[in-house]
Amino acid sequence: MSYENILVSTEGRVGIVQLNRPAARNALNGALMAELVAALAAFDSDAAIGCMLITGSDKAFAAGADIKQMATATVVEMMDSEMLGAWDALTRLHKPLLAAVSGWCLGGGCELAMACDMIIASESAIFGQPEINLGVIPGAGGTQRLTRAVGKAIAMDMILSDRRLSAGEAMRFGLISRVAPVETYLALALEVAAVIAAKPPVAVRTAKEAVNAAYESTLAEGMRLERRLFTLLFATDDQKEGMAAFAEKRAATWQGR
Ligand code: HXC
Repeated sequence: MSYENILVSTEGRVGIVQLNRPAARNALNGALMAELVAALAAFDSDAAIGCMLITGSDKAFAAGADIKQMATATVVEMMDSEMLGAWDALTRLHKPLLAAVSGWCLGGGCELAMACDMIIASESAIFGQPEINLGVIPGAGGTQRLTRAVGKAIAMDMILSDRRLSAGEAMRFGLISRVAPVETYLALALEVAAVIAAKPPVAVRTAKEAVNAAYESTLAEGMRLERRLFTLLFATDDQKEGMAAFAEKRAATWQGR
């Protein structure tokens, strides 16, 4: 499949999608979101891929949803929009999805990064939810995922006053997991993705499912799910192999089953 708004590549077992609308600071229009979802879904069902990564450019991960595309939309057009419809598909991906973020990461761009399982940023990354300046509010997780990540105080500050976070602040507040200089953040993100892609795939997708459940359940429900998933993994060849390899002091060879 050929794409107009993204660049798709692989590096070993890592599937990479680069947002590629540089003239619009990678603003997310309907076509870009549809392509992004299609490319990620293809990686998700490809056994040769173990981890996926979204990135932008050094200057902009994404400056938000495409304001020019939305500007004159009616409420019904927004309800039916391809740009908004694509987001649920991201939550259905089984394999880990990393965001490598540099430069502007605003509005829908910040929400896209937060829809990923982990964010690795360059020191020049700027995170913000500036929708209030446009007479709207975040519409794809800004009020929900951001609040769960950084807490009410910082989330309110960002969403109500358009406070922007530096990479250092984002790290301190728990929004991102690693920071590196702009020259090396992408290499670091690819390195982390490659490490994950080399782990036993069934355990990896199960771990992702269990951590994500922590956002949507009570502690007791989450603990019950975790116990069920943990014990279920004893039905896999990879569990037998992993534990045998430990006892035999050798590297494990994963079968993905
Ligand atoms: C459409 C955008 C855009 C956007 C930038 N551009 N952001 N076009 N939608 N979100 C375009 C500009 O119009 C301009 O086009 C070109 O990209 C370069 O932008 P500049 O402003 O000249 O660049 P710069 O001075 O470097 O400033 C970068 C910026 C600024 C700080 C990112 O562009 C900006 O504030 N953008 C808007 C950020 C924002 O409000 N995001 C929230 C969107 S609402 P021309 O043609 O003039 O060269 C949202 C809701 C999400 O995300 C809802 C759920 C998905």
